[in-house]
Amino acid sequence: MLKITSALDLKDLVTFIPNKHEPIHNWYHYKEGYSKQFVELMLKKFNIQKNQTVLDPFCGVGTTPLTCKQNGIKSIGFDVSPLAAFVSRVKTADYDLTELNKTCRNVLMEKFQRPEHLPRDEWLRKVFNRYVLEDIMFYKEKIFQIQDEKIMHFMLLGLMDSAMECSYAYKDGALIRIQKKHVPPLKKYFKYKIKKMLKDLEKANVPNTECKIELGDARDLAVCDNGVDFIITSPPYLNKIEYTKIYRTEYALFFEQPKTQVRSFIEEGEDAYFRDMRKCLENFKRVCKGPMAIVIGGGCFPDHVTLVDEKIGEIAEDIGLKVKEILVARNSWCTKARTVKVGQIRESVVILE
Ligand SMILES: C[S@@+](CC[C@H](N)C(=O)[O-])C[C@H]1O[C@@H](n2cnc3c(N)ncnc32)[C@H](O)[C@@H]1O
Repeated sequence: MLKITSALDLKDLVTFIPNKHEPIHNWYHYKEGYSKQFVELMLKKFNIQKNQTVLDPFCGVGTTPLTCKQNGIKSIGFDVSPLAAFVSRVKTADYDLTELNKTCRNVLMEKFQRPEHLPRDEWLRKVFNRYVLEDIMFYKEKIFQIQDEKIMHFMLLGLMDSAMECSYAYKDGALIRIQKKHVPPLKKYFKYKIKKMLKDLEKANVPNTECKIELGDARDLAVCDNGVDFIITSPPYLNKIEYTKIYRTEYALFFEQPKTQVRSFIEEGEDAYFRDMRKCLENFKRVCKGPMAIVIGGGCFPDHVTLVDEKIGEIAEDIGLKVKEILVARNSWCTKARTVKVGQIRESVVILE
């Protein structure tokens, strides 16, 4: 019998919302993330020490590795999305602040020149007005001329977040919608953003702790056997978000589409999802010496709900891991056609040993 305990005090902590007020964590908004406070709670719960290493195989925008770094703990993060891995790397890098300040100031002082060509991409023309798109392309070109890759990526993240702030697109759950509205001038917002990011770094004084971020697949982890001490992570939720679709604006502007697509849980259904989860758990068991905390949500379908936490617990026990407890952080209703209740689902933290 799995031990299932109510832990509603975790309700907000398993969301990205508290990160909105956290310097560095809030450089880029990632709705699918959890909070710095959640990671700190787990570091405490597992009594993680400075000479130990934490792995996040689905690191998203780096909440686990950044929090570890801020607490002087070594970490490794993987994500299959180039966008997520990029954001994580920028947030956890060590910077030479004098050089960074100097280069940022130079780019921000550049005199604006209208770019000769704007992208033909129809989507970009829908989500940005012409002036914003011109500013983005102008700064993008200047940023790509920066020799120091770390500084270039720092500024690119600032530009990416500014572009999203000045666009008509907004992310609504698993969908991306367009809403024509007043948007701030990109140039002004970008300057404000970069200044804020620089200030965050100056104030934060994050210790120079080892932190590695890799583009990689959690089903086939490039980590040696028993290579890490703990895992704190959150895989994609069943039937929830097609990551490459809702980030299409960022991809169209700054990245190539990922070569290895994450299996689309939506199109290939539940069986494929749990087969993938089994592969991930087998990898976790191989690489991790200590406990694991896995944040996961239930699956909501038109005709049934799936308690993913229990299912993951069963798979874990089947491959020889032990489920210590399942902490239920929030309960909600799965509905169809907005009003008809299909069943209750929950978001939980599965603790494995
Ligand atoms: C729930 S989010 C994790 C968010 C993270 N905890 C944070 O706070 O930013 C799940 C992440 O898993 C990534 N992902 C999906 N499939 C993956 C795979 N097979 N291997 C590694 N990462 C994967 C997605 O790109 C997404 O960033």
